[in-house]
Amino acid sequence: MDSTAVAAAHPNIALIKYWGNRDDSLRLPQNNSISMTLAGLHTVTRVRFHDGLPSDAIVLHGRPATGEARQRVVRHLDLVRQLAGLSARAEVLSANDFPTGAGLASSASAFAALTVAATHAAGLHLSTADLSRLARRGSGSACRSILGGIVEWTAGLDDQTSYAVPLAPAEHWPVVDVVAVVSTAEKDVGSSEGHRLAASSPLQAARLRGVEARLAACRAAIHQRDFPALATVVEQDSDLMHAVMETSTPPLRYRLPSSLALMSAVQGWRAAGWAVCYTLDAGPNVHCLCPAAQAPAVEQRLMSMAGVLRVFSAAIGAEARTLAESDPLTGLL
Ligand code: DP6
Repeated sequence: MDSTAVAAAHPNIALIKYWGNRDDSLRLPQNNSISMTLAGLHTVTRVRFHDGLPSDAIVLHGRPATGEARQRVVRHLDLVRQLAGLSARAEVLSANDFPTGAGLASSASAFAALTVAATHAAGLHLSTADLSRLARRGSGSACRSILGGIVEWTAGLDDQTSYAVPLAPAEHWPVVDVVAVVSTAEKDVGSSEGHRLAASSPLQAARLRGVEARLAACRAAIHQRDFPALATVVEQDSDLMHAVMETSTPPLRYRLPSSLALMSAVQGWRAAGWAVCYTLDAGPNVHCLCPAAQAPAVEQRLMSMAGVLRVFSAAIGAEARTLAESDPLTGLL
């Protein structure tokens, strides 16, 4: 066989976080999570299954992948081969138009794009739920990037029941993520290792005990477009996750002094009447969520803050999709 497909996917920012698995190998999380898919930031991936290849050839961001990064992609291709009854090896080319490894959920868009490209190239026609389930096996948060808009990942009890479902379409509430980049360094400890450490924190049980209430508050805030209510629950959930990270053994410290200064500043702006709140994933960059009308002012403020290297904004984006070879996004490859 010789079959190719190209796909694009967006990263997402979690409003209610995924941290800790009940099954690490299947990536079954301990709690539901909620995120918004981020427009304007892309992973683009081309997959070609070809009978003549002796082994999978994987090039990520212009460099041949090696070690665990390569194995993770090979394992994902194996899942697709198994589903499609294929033995052909694959050529994979993938690139991002945003920095990798700095808390911008690059594994989410990476495994969402890989899942869509590989299943299409393999001739599979999967439902959105099945694509989400499969993407989850590569990276938990990738199951959310299969969908656009605001999304909830239902933790489920097993492989079949753990996938993302839509909560609201992008046009329901034009919220923007204004990202203040304070570091573009690759993180020392990735999320997969972090999830394995979550249970070693005495605070993880407390985080999980309250998560149903926070999920309900987040869903209601989204449904009613109630920004103050969203701000309260989003900041608390982010702070709880980082408290767990910082009290695990060994501790994980993703927040830098510049992150903490920005978090305080954001709370100060809110106290002064602005509609803005912060959330941080497994990295130091501060995601400032606000209604679209407030975004230019938040960008301006953030750019004037010490330690901020760069500011960019992402509105709510669309689902992962296949691309025609003529699509300008394939120029990233
Ligand atoms: C802090 O999905 O990156 O961004 O399943 O091991 O790939 P793996 O982990 P990953 O974890 C994301 C953690 C987070 C919170 C979130 O996105 O919910």
